[in-house]
Amino acid sequence: MTDALKIGIAGLGTVGAALFRAITTRHNSLTDICGREIIITAVSARDRTRDRGLDLSGTAWFDDPVEMAREADIDVYVELIGGEGDPAYSAAREALGRGRHFVTANKAMLARHGVELAMLAENNGVLLNFEAAVAGGIPVIKAMRESLTGNAIQRVYGILNGTCNYILTRMQRDNIGFAECLSDAQRLGYAEADPTFDIEGNDTAHKLAILTSLAFGVQIASDEVYIEGITNISVDDIHAADELGFRIKLLGVAQRTASGIEQRVHPTMVPKGSMIAQVEGVTNAVTIEADILGELMLSGPGAGGDATASAVLGDVADIAKSRPGHQQAPALGRPAAKLEPYRRARMRSHEGGYFISLRVEDRAGVFAAVASRMAENGISLESIVQRARPSDAPEGPRRVILVTHATMEANVRAAVDGIKAEGYLAGEPQVIRIERTSEN
Ligand code: HSE
Repeated sequence: MTDALKIGIAGLGTVGAALFRAITTRHNSLTDICGREIIITAVSARDRTRDRGLDLSGTAWFDDPVEMAREADIDVYVELIGGEGDPAYSAAREALGRGRHFVTANKAMLARHGVELAMLAENNGVLLNFEAAVAGGIPVIKAMRESLTGNAIQRVYGILNGTCNYILTRMQRDNIGFAECLSDAQRLGYAEADPTFDIEGNDTAHKLAILTSLAFGVQIASDEVYIEGITNISVDDIHAADELGFRIKLLGVAQRTASGIEQRVHPTMVPKGSMIAQVEGVTNAVTIEADILGELMLSGPGAGGDATASAVLGDVADIAKSRPGHQQAPALGRPAAKLEPYRRARMRSHEGGYFISLRVEDRAGVFAAVASRMAENGISLESIVQRARPSDAPEGPRRVILVTHATMEANVRAAVDGIKAEGYLAGEPQVIRIERTSEN
């Protein structure tokens, strides 16, 4: 039998501990499947004394994860530290530069340095695997990197953050506020160390930037993602969407257009009957529109220790199964030097439907003025509804909700600016983009 594959794990939090358990308790079956043993020879974490319920005897301990990349007796470095910079980044460069395979769940680091690390892996003849970095346990990287080779992809979109989907689902289903839902997500271990990364959309943007590169064969451009998070979404918005036949989801969308590639993350209205609308709780989903295959939707657990550990384990097992001279697909689906520069489509040119919710003074002419600003900007309305006044609020502003036909974002911004300037609004307008799916 081939020599054992020796791995080092940096980071023994929820995911690292779940991975450690999976490898040690499934040792025999993994050996049968991979044709060689997988053994953990080194670990690195912040606190050596913490009881994690793991038997670490027989594994070398490193306080410094970069030193582990340099010194440990390992074939594979598994990075579960997180963060776009050091120590994860230095550990990656050190490990790859020394010819060790590198497995990571670190989307922030890949979003920033992925192309450079992919090149380093290629130059050193080793693998850079990162299934766990996007959509938790869903094997979307492998699908895009390998199974869809040769397809031209038009659009990829999805629910890429379990925390946000969990929050939006609970707000809708249980009618409870944002803060309470967020603290439950944190308690359940879905949220990032800093949950603003989840709720402000940055985590989704990192994942989207990686998918964009795989989908369109371009360099990763995470700074070019348009981002709006979900902190602005109220239970009222969710109910209004529901009445109009929509669900609100935080989507990441990458789309090829005539003027370049759109990368956008924002709360999105999707038809209640669409498949993506059925994706609830911490579940993630990715839809890929490809010319040969057609439409592919993958969905599954998107966050949490076991789901993420499952993806990391798959990556490690792929390395254990690989044989020298039979190199697997390049990290980003094609040789890093062949990735094209990213060409951004401006958000102002985005075309789609819009939901616009306004709180307006209850006086003659306001409704007509709103409709006029829309018409002046060439926006065709699918519906305009003035909601009945709640019985417990006999005074004060009323809510007007507009749904537009497909139009250009620049027109919507101009119309909304015009409405704001007229002085009959109470509070800020709420504008939510509507996404076309294959069902509508
Ligand atoms: N915080 C992330 C989420 C974990 O909620 O989806 C996986 O990246």
